[in-house]
Amino acid sequence: MKKIDRETVQRILDAADIVEVVSDFVHLKRRGSSYLGLCPFHNERTPSFSVSKSKNICKCFSCGKGGSPVNFIMEHEQMSYYEALRYLARKYNIEIKEHEMSDKEREEESERESMLAVNDFALKHFEKNLQETDDGRDIGLSYFLDRGINEASIKKFRLGYSLEKSNDLLNAAKSRGYNEKYLIETGLCIKTDQGRVYDRFKGRVMFPVFSISGKVIAFGGRTLKKDVAKYVNSPESLIYKKSYQLYGLYQAKQAIVKHDKCILVEGYMDVISMHQSGIENVVASSGTSLTDGQIRLIHRFTDNVTVIYDGDAAGIKASLRGIDMLLAEGLDIKVLLLPDGDDPDSFAQKHTSSELEEYIAANETDFLQFKTSILLNGVKNDPIAKSRVINDIVRSIAVIPNPITRNVYITECSRMLEIDDRIVALQVNKLFMERVGKDNLKKQQEAAAETISDIVNVEEPVKPVEAAAEVKRQPSPVDSNSRFLRAYEQGILRYVLRYGMLELCEDYDDLGNPISVKVIDYINEELKNDDLKFSNPDIEKTFEEAIKCSSLTWEEDNCKNNETLLKERESYIAAGEE
Ligand code: UTP
Ligand code: MN
Repeated sequence: MKKIDRETVQRILDAADIVEVVSDFVHLKRRGSSYLGLCPFHNERTPSFSVSKSKNICKCFSCGKGGSPVNFIMEHEQMSYYEALRYLARKYNIEIKEHEMSDKEREEESERESMLAVNDFALKHFEKNLQETDDGRDIGLSYFLDRGINEASIKKFRLGYSLEKSNDLLNAAKSRGYNEKYLIETGLCIKTDQGRVYDRFKGRVMFPVFSISGKVIAFGGRTLKKDVAKYVNSPESLIYKKSYQLYGLYQAKQAIVKHDKCILVEGYMDVISMHQSGIENVVASSGTSLTDGQIRLIHRFTDNVTVIYDGDAAGIKASLRGIDMLLAEGLDIKVLLLPDGDDPDSFAQKHTSSELEEYIAANETDFLQFKTSILLNGVKNDPIAKSRVINDIVRSIAVIPNPITRNVYITECSRMLEIDDRIVALQVNKLFMERVGKDNLKKQQEAAAETISDIVNVEEPVKPVEAAAEVKRQPSPVDSNSRFLRAYEQGILRYVLRYGMLELCEDYDDLGNPISVKVIDYINEELKNDDLKFSNPDIEKTFEEAIKCSSLTWEEDNCKNNETLLKERESYIAAGEE
């Protein structure tokens, strides 16, 4: 690894703005003088990742990860310190003078960086083939143009062509000093048991797959012939974990944030054609069923997903499968079916961007209506089949984490299915409780962490970063006594955080005026009376914060919160009764 001189390091550190750096990966919302978003380092549904522009640091209240722009990039992109600095230097156009690599240095580069480097070489090689070789132009380029993909899209998605030869890439890469080892590890080349090495992609148009930060981590190659597997894809590797990637996200992420919505399609061509038609907030699951990792990836940028699938039976089945997973992640989902025979690619090619937008707006359906209408189709007069459908839909509703949303769907569902809403509610709640019961422990821990961050947050928006840093799992020198008491102290803290502001009883002040005693006051008084303190410093600190919040801004925040909730509830009721 080559050294970067100290002066340049300083320039990079000075230029890197934490909000800009984090925003490339996380959808941030302003909250007072800091920013909040969903933590990219763990799975969560309510944001606890706080970014402080003034301090130029970020921190997750829940999992504790974060730090300076360099720390963030190291953790997020799994880079070394110098790799992270290079990343930031590129982002801020800061020049790092580097001499041509020697063989030795090249060997010393980290495995990861070598794989990315060889992928990057392959990307450019395939691009060059497409534009500058006869076969590339006659076969590859004319194929794209025939399919209505224009030059701008070809550039934007860095499309290319692999020549119909066994060793074209292999030889080119080796002659430039790239190690065969990495060609094999990335899957660009295949090594037989006999030790022969040859190109994986031959005579195919090439679709590079980019990581969220714009590195080429894999390729999909489409054949132009009829009789072979349509796509050959890079295998999983150190740099390519398929279930954590979405095709097109790198090109779509800004549009997703801008429109606060992500459109999900199936294939490479769908993404590209939609982009070309001006709809840029599109990503593809690349033909496989959605994974949790992919859903979490979407959720970092938006809460709203519209799933578009072909109008054929397979497309419909695929969308039903994905939906429960999206719902369970707390996303708002709409489904759009295209006219039978069309896929997003062909549909986008036939229509202008405004037609496309209008079609989406007019035809995207709420998931429940979609699922109900599809499943109920043809079973209305068959009671057994109908009850199966009802149970299926009830199961979908039961995975929705938000209780208000769940309730709105219970009302809506009973209306559409013509059954008593109390029965639906009963069944949904039963399933919901079963589910909660299963991973109860995990949920409780999550909820506790979220509550802590909320409480810390109420007081002053800038503070969470420091406060959380202090409160959060700082392993303090805890004696065995404290360790023993921890479970009990946590129990008390749980009551404080969960029910602290509820009225426990009435009491009278010194002048005999009635005053209401809240749970938190009661606990505080009792502890003081007995001269007790928490023995675990983090619990003590959280307790103190809660006391502070309760006397400062809690009432005001609670009123505001209630108002918002009431309004939300009214609008849901109004919508449900229409
Ligand atoms: P499609 O068959 O819809 O492909 O598969 P497509 O991208 O629309 O391609 P065209 O329009 O036929 O040219 C959807 C996605 O499934 C994956 C690819 O990611 C593809 O984009 N797939 C499909 C494979 O990985 N391998 C295959 O053999 C087929
Ligand atoms: Mn297609």
